Amino acid sequence: MDKRIEKIEAKEILDSRGKPTLEVSVYAGGMTGTFSVPSGRSKGSHEMVSIDVQKAIASVAHLNDTLKGFSLDDQESLDSKLIALDGTKDKSKLGGNALLGVSVAYAKVGAKLSGKEIFEYLQEIAGIESFNKIPRLYINLVNGGEHSRSPLVFQEYHVVPETENIREALEQASRIQSKLQELVEKEFGVIILGDEGGFVLNTSSVEKPLELLAQAIKNSDLEGKIKLSLDVAASSFFKNGKYVIGNKEYEKEELINLYKNLVSKYGIFSIEDPLQEEDFEGFAEFRKETKISAVGDDLTVTNPERVNNAIEKKSIDAVIIKPNQIGTLTETLEAMRVARENGVDCIVSHRSGETEDTFIADLAWAFGCLGLKAGAPNQEVRKVKYERLCQIQEHK
Ligand code: PGA
Ligand code: ZN
Repeated sequence: MDKRIEKIEAKEILDSRGKPTLEVSVYAGGMTGTFSVPSGRSKGSHEMVSIDVQKAIASVAHLNDTLKGFSLDDQESLDSKLIALDGTKDKSKLGGNALLGVSVAYAKVGAKLSGKEIFEYLQEIAGIESFNKIPRLYINLVNGGEHSRSPLVFQEYHVVPETENIREALEQASRIQSKLQELVEKEFGVIILGDEGGFVLNTSSVEKPLELLAQAIKNSDLEGKIKLSLDVAASSFFKNGKYVIGNKEYEKEELINLYKNLVSKYGIFSIEDPLQEEDFEGFAEFRKETKISAVGDDLTVTNPERVNNAIEKKSIDAVIIKPNQIGTLTETLEAMRVARENGVDCIVSHRSGETEDTFIADLAWAFGCLGLKAGAPNQEVRKVKYERLCQIQEHK
């Protein structure tokens, strides 16, 4: 493909929280690739730095001057160049948001020019072995922690339909969501939605949402077909060396015991960030004690070195993949490759501040990932991602 970058442009758009974010377009060979960058709220402290949107737009204008004429079929060279032009470890000079926008928009226009679907193009450029799984949907129906203004400290309660049929999974989750809504209305008298479209419950009981979810699954006639998982985002309630839940403080061992009880009572199969983001050893203890999956997110931040460290310390069974934690597509794919080569599953994830972009669905499909985590399907920015997975499955 002897095509070259003709122009790179960026503009400001609003994300699902109504906050400004960046949309980047790369033009080449009469085609355009566009990517809009999401943003997190409960961020890991080792994530790349997103800068102010107007400054990021200026960074993209600078990149346009430098990268015009750059060849189109070399993602690795483009990303190395972006990293070198920024020159900082956390991408704070040009902005991780600006770099990621350019990096993914470049891949998207590359896919278009080669006449391939994005997931096919990713398979071609990455050389990552596929686990040949159909991604399961991790659908967040109860929002706590930093995604809500409730006293509930656990951040996300997911239903994970077991079926390999993605449309059926989506329908099951929607059914559970409407049954759950009836229960929430009855118990709390009001429906409030959090950042990711799940219900916000005015309770500090971490068990209450599990009780309601179990009941909603039963009321939907889906018992035995749905698994439950959590993203507790433990760093967000780790204060002065203790985990603070309601008016109680927990030592690490006590928290692991709490998880053990919840696991045996509700059959939870997986917990993301069960302990704070520096406790690689604690994650390993958690795995030994609970015998369920530990998922790294704030722990690993899609950073190949941290993923590797988590693997060496036996901290994780699966890893969350979020391109905007690390800032370029090549580094994202590298984190996935490191996980893959060590038998660790990947769950591709959105951010709590999202856009209409569906790139992450292609990323989850491309390498047969364990899951796609994209919030509750009642929000359009979340639904389009699940719909894109359906579309790929139905038309492949
Ligand atoms: P964030 O949360 O996008 O606000 O960081 C998502 C998560 O923790 O998985
Ligand atoms: Zn998380």
